[in-house]
Amino acid sequence: MRGYGLPAGGRRSPLPNGPARSGGGIPPRFDPSVPCLDVSVTFPPGVSRAQEWTVPTVRVTRRVHFSAAHRLFREDWSDERNAQTFGDCANPNWHGHNYEMDVTVVGPIDPETGFVMDLKDLRDALEARVLRDVDHRNLNLEVSWMNGVNPTTENLVVAIWDRVAPSLPSGVSLDRIVLHETPRNSVEYTGPDSSELRGGS
Ligand code: NI
Repeated sequence: MRGYGLPAGGRRSPLPNGPARSGGGIPPRFDPSVPCLDVSVTFPPGVSRAQEWTVPTVRVTRRVHFSAAHRLFREDWSDERNAQTFGDCANPNWHGHNYEMDVTVVGPIDPETGFVMDLKDLRDALEARVLRDVDHRNLNLEVSWMNGVNPTTENLVVAIWDRVAPSLPSGVSLDRIVLHETPRNSVEYTGPDSSELRGGS
């Protein structure tokens, strides 16, 4: 089968304006005997040719806030050991934190809207999947998806990831969650890595 760009003689056609590779004079700029791909591209209004060829992938972040109570402890440890390990957060009478959370999604810019996703939809998903359950609640006692989990910021961010990731529109992925427990302490999670998906081997 004859490949594209190969004229009848099997000799590679020179590039336009390029040097001829054999004698015989300057070849025509366009040889109708050479099959070529029929490419027609239409661009939506407002989208330039450059944007069409390289659809930019952009990260978008929504910051949300919630307040919640918790106690960090292990039932199988003594009060002394819990206090030694978890400090003030082991207080048996609970205490609260004002959490700030940055949720970053990643995806291509939709050429129609110019958005990766509508941030109102991200806000609504965070409200429905996370904030409604945790804001002004006790993380140890009142949040079903934290049942039996020591509510450290690390454990909380992983549980929140699992709540949010399935709620995003197609083509948009969860990229990163940064959860600030205090203005000085935060954790960052970028999702399960391949070793976790294989079962931690
Ligand atoms: Ni605490």
